Amino acid sequence: MNILILNGPNLNMIGLREPEVYGTKTYKELEEFCKSFEEKYSITTDIKQSNLEGILIDLLQYGNDRFDGVILNAGAFTHYSYALYDAIKSIQIPVVEVHLSDVNNREEFRKISVIKPACIATVSGLGFNSYEEGLKILLKEVTKWLLRWRKKLLK
Ligand code: DQA
Repeated sequence: MNILILNGPNLNMIGLREPEVYGTKTYKELEEFCKSFEEKYSITTDIKQSNLEGILIDLLQYGNDRFDGVILNAGAFTHYSYALYDAIKSIQIPVVEVHLSDVNNREEFRKISVIKPACIATVSGLGFNSYEEGLKILLKEVTKWLLRWRKKLLK
């Protein structure tokens, strides 16, 4: 299984950025944490980050034929990007929304996720572990799909 881990704006700044909210671990450490999923779950991963909405959309579209699912931390785009919502709806692979912080217990605007209805699940508030919990949900979903396809092919 091949999983795309996609991070949006300002996530490259964790470690420096509001450490009381996002912790002191750096983006490089997040990349390493996510790389460790490969051995632990027998999967392959690619982790990408961009501050640009269009690049995130390009990566989702590019990922459609190349990955089995996506873990997406869309950063602040979560709260207002209908273009990202449309991009997630446009692709056939499942997307799980993740956040490091507990978005429901911060400013009002963070309680709204416009991408949520396009994603199969949302995990927030667990720091780096949000990515691992999101991955577990994604792997379950992808396995279900693969088994369904296998059954169809064997008919
Ligand atoms: C975030 C939460 C967003 O509200 C914020 O804009 C981010 C990071 C998180 O991981 O907690 O950039 O997605």
